[in-house]
Amino acid sequence: MTAVRLSQILFSQGFGSRRECAARVLTGRVSVAGRECDDPDETFDTEGLVFSVDGRDWPYHDKAIVLLHKPAGYECSIKPRHHPSVLSLLPSPLRVRGLQPVGRLDADTTGALLLTDDGTLIHRLTSPKHHVPKIYEVTCKHPVDERQLAALRAGVVLDDDPAPVRAAAAEATGGGPGTCTLRLTLTEGKYHQVKRMVAAVGNRVEALHRSAIGAVTLPTGLAPGQWCWIDRHTALA
Ligand code: URA
Repeated sequence: MTAVRLSQILFSQGFGSRRECAARVLTGRVSVAGRECDDPDETFDTEGLVFSVDGRDWPYHDKAIVLLHKPAGYECSIKPRHHPSVLSLLPSPLRVRGLQPVGRLDADTTGALLLTDDGTLIHRLTSPKHHVPKIYEVTCKHPVDERQLAALRAGVVLDDDPAPVRAAAAEATGGGPGTCTLRLTLTEGKYHQVKRMVAAVGNRVEALHRSAIGAVTLPTGLAPGQWCWIDRHTALA
């Protein structure tokens, strides 16, 4: 059991400065298990704790991990240049506690994006050593043929590295000859990797969607722009 003061709990979860957190408690805006708590020094066991601020429930997380369904038109940068940041889609406490995207998706790419304040997890999921598979649903300009799929699996050379990059899996989707869609599984995360690999086999990416990162699959009910909590165990499975 870890007994922590309520104002410290709020502070650790991103609810502002220590002073602001104490003020939130003192003004009756925080409750635990349906009971309003107005003493900032009251302690609670953080294990499995759910508190509520201004009527919204917040589960306590030592480290926060969320899955965002990234819409098109957002940048995965903390200092975006041309579009709003994906961070603007998260509620303030998650931004305040410093969540960062795990890897990058291009502004026009949609789909699964993990964000966390757990540096060890970011390293574990992005380091090429760990070969975490990422699944991309790709819509191409031209029909996808067996020659292109075989080349993607065998490895293609990109312009910044003489060593070929291989897709762990590449299959046409959508059924039938002439389909322009394919599913690509990559275990690295090079800059514009899907677009460059598809270009290297003579096709062109028209739309790109990431459906999974390791064991984390984008749930069908999670609409573009929405997010949900992910536990560490699932993120690392
Ligand atoms: N590969 C790309 O080309 N773009 C992405 O957003 C992700 C992988």
